[in-house]
Amino acid sequence: MNEEVEKALNNQIKTESHASSTYLAMSTWCGEHGYDFSAGFFAKQAEEERAHMLKLFKYVNDRGGRAISPEITNITTDFNSFRDLFERTLEMEIHVTQLFNDMAEKCIRQKDFVTFQFIQWFLEEQIQEEYVARRILELFDLIGEEGTGRWEIDKEMQKVKYEG
Ligand SMILES: [Fe+2]
Ligand SMILES: [Fe+2]
Repeated sequence: MNEEVEKALNNQIKTESHASSTYLAMSTWCGEHGYDFSAGFFAKQAEEERAHMLKLFKYVNDRGGRAISPEITNITTDFNSFRDLFERTLEMEIHVTQLFNDMAEKCIRQKDFVTFQFIQWFLEEQIQEEYVARRILELFDLIGEEGTGRWEIDKEMQKVKYEG
């Protein structure tokens, strides 16, 4: 497989894995602070990111490349606030979208249209990932954090779904 594309895919394997571990850390933080629905949400996100990682991993090996088992370090475990988690989530997801955009550009440049086709699924997935994070952040403004606000936000955030 094209070397430059393989490198980008291995990089992405690492990024997805890092995201998975970060979401797990966020799940712990939520559990510790009483945000049970959000703890469940982040645990599920962690699982999804791991599934993304495995999808990329299998693809690289199936195409004759060499998928590298990612070493994950520098996981943030300390967060400033409940809201901070979702701000970071949105930032992370926007960054992932950018990485897939760059990969798409690379695929076209290298004429790797098979991988270009393969990553369409991920690009599509990012619409939902960004939407959900954005919508939950809106709840912080709509509901407000004072009084029982955060308790309410935790309860409402689980209902956020992207209807594509
Ligand atoms: Fe992902
Ligand atoms: Fe994601």
